[in-house]
Amino acid sequence: MSRRHSRAGWIALALVAAACEPRPERPAQADILAARQAGLSFDGRLKREILDRLIREEDPVAVYLAYADHAPSWGKEISEAARFDFSRTALGVRNPANAPDDWERRQMETFNFLADAGQDPETFEAAEILQEGNETVFRWLRPVVMGETCMTCHGEAVNIPIKLLIAQEYPLDEGAGYSEGQLGGAYSVRKVLSVDGRPPPAYATRDLPARLPAAARQPGDAQLIEPEPQEAPP
Ligand code: HEC
Repeated sequence: MSRRHSRAGWIALALVAAACEPRPERPAQADILAARQAGLSFDGRLKREILDRLIREEDPVAVYLAYADHAPSWGKEISEAARFDFSRTALGVRNPANAPDDWERRQMETFNFLADAGQDPETFEAAEILQEGNETVFRWLRPVVMGETCMTCHGEAVNIPIKLLIAQEYPLDEGAGYSEGQLGGAYSVRKVLSVDGRPPPAYATRDLPARLPAAARQPGDAQLIEPEPQEAPP
């Protein structure tokens, strides 16, 4: 037998041995594409229903209220259509219901590390199959970058009426103080692939956390921060 053949034999053996090693399962391309699509749907609605209104210079308080009232339900609608959980999260959250779990936190810390090292966040994506209790799950995460319009509600100089509203509704807010271009959190997908090795039950929708009634969060009612003194009309 020639040396070439015997080397090929060793390589084949090594490949078989590698294939027998217990290796983490690779996520299905279809799940990754569906997760990306969910992120794009959220981006689209955020742009159309919120950011474009700020660009048109509509009253930022009205836009804020529209966002706080509707953004969580967009996530729910996207989840129901895709039949997996789509959510948003961040390392410091505004809404405690969006707090990350350990896996999301670790991925976001890695994203921040890579961004600090000068890599382009547009290329960041995490996709893995994990065992969580008796569930085998597909997890996916993509960072979101804070743009100019995000600063209205997440920047360092948020205007007083919006600050008041945020203080009423999100007293533990950690979602402000960002500057443009920083990573502002992530879109997250979690899909149950099997339970105890068997097909999962049909996707069940989750309830949204309760919200403050609209009448309880008028900017004028909250005297948490003293507004700037107004000039008396002449
Ligand atoms: C009009 C105000 C407003 C604008 C503009 C805005 N946000 Fe938010 N953002 C909020 C509010 C309010 C919440 C909490 C929503 C909730 O209850 O889930 C939030 C939540 C988030 C969250 C989820 C994590 C958390 O902190 O609860 C992310 C991520 C996020 N915003 C990113 C962005 C990005 C990126 C932009 C710009 C492309 C943006 N936001 C623009 C008000 C705003």
